[in-house]
Amino acid sequence: MTTAVVIVAAGSGSRVGGEIPKQYQALGGAPVIRLTTLAFLRHPDIHRIQLVIGDGHEPLYREAMAGLDLPPPVRGGATRQASVLNGLEALASNPPERVLIHDAARPFVSAPLISRVISALADNSAAIPGLALADTLKRVEDQQVRATVARSGLMAVQTPQGFRYDLIRAAHRRAAEEQVADMTDDSSIAEWAGLAVAVVAGDPENRKLTTAADLSEAEWRSAAKAALATADVRIGHGFDVHSFEPGDFVTLCGVRIAHERRLSGHSDADAPLHALTDAILGAIGEGDIGVHFPPSDPQWRGADSAVFLRHALKLLAARRGRLANVDITIVAEAPKIAPHVPAMRNRLSEILGIAGDRIGIKATTSESLGFTGRREGLVAMAVASVRLPWET
Ligand code: CTP
Ligand code: MG
Repeated sequence: MTTAVVIVAAGSGSRVGGEIPKQYQALGGAPVIRLTTLAFLRHPDIHRIQLVIGDGHEPLYREAMAGLDLPPPVRGGATRQASVLNGLEALASNPPERVLIHDAARPFVSAPLISRVISALADNSAAIPGLALADTLKRVEDQQVRATVARSGLMAVQTPQGFRYDLIRAAHRRAAEEQVADMTDDSSIAEWAGLAVAVVAGDPENRKLTTAADLSEAEWRSAAKAALATADVRIGHGFDVHSFEPGDFVTLCGVRIAHERRLSGHSDADAPLHALTDAILGAIGEGDIGVHFPPSDPQWRGADSAVFLRHALKLLAARRGRLANVDITIVAEAPKIAPHVPAMRNRLSEILGIAGDRIGIKATTSESLGFTGRREGLVAMAVASVRLPWET
């Protein structure tokens, strides 16, 4: 059984307004039409996707759908009904058994909802999602209540609406021929043609973006969801000391700095990277660098400490976590760190995969006090904050 979906996106979005039609406006950084299409592209039971777009919307369409593997869109008509018919006709040369028809303006369509509609088509020629109404309904004219409409038996219906392809195409063609126009959904056409239409449970989240307020509310909800998805904010701390020995350079934050001494250590002795590795491990409760890379293990002799850091990042990624920011302090009388901070930051940005403004690197002397003051060694301290998915 092949199932196609026709996504109608040829409207002008006049009620939302704005410089471009609502289906091309961004929601959480991605255009509405792209989000809607992705919901179907990712659904295993959808075999074909036919977009229907407005006159002159091609450049917007190309930009919004960049990189998606889709057949070319077809042009819509003056009404939603006409747009749907064009989409159905585009499938006619290789007709699917079933077709879903969906509004591009409903980007929150969920996989379970799509599945419910498809499942219902096993036993029905047409199936649509419906929601019971909570509010009392009135018939109103001239701002006066004329009647109270009994709510029982009434439902608000959504898309995707599913049909046997041959039946809905025939119904749409006949409606066009007989100039039955301006039906606002496809169930109306099916009903008009005498088809039985089954109802499955709709989804309150599957709202149609109709007004500007709908769009800003949706924007707010998607931002809130994204923030909540990584709401488990944690901090880790790391501390490392290496002593100086005779040599001619040190490596700090992955940057080689000429100096009249070197740092002694098993690896490249990059103390700030070790402190940072510990900070990330600490934030996710994964012990410390020595647990993962025992100093007794000869394979780490002279190793680039980025290896340790990358391992900590891998453990963080395995938990679906993100690094929010890091801050490093180096305590040393010499070498002078400040001139190297930009290079260090670039290197860290590269390894950590975060922007430079999320990376702090600072240095201080200890005013000639203690072992750092006596130039016997240096200290590096780091904090890292990470965001993990919220798990209850
Ligand atoms: N639609 C369409 N062709 C039309 C009119 C509407 O393909 N001639 C599509 C819209 O792009 C939308 C869906 O049908 O995805 C539902 O329509 P609606 O929410 O009314 O969108 P618009 O018609 O674009 O908005 P408005 O009525 O505010 O102008
Ligand atoms: Mg409209």
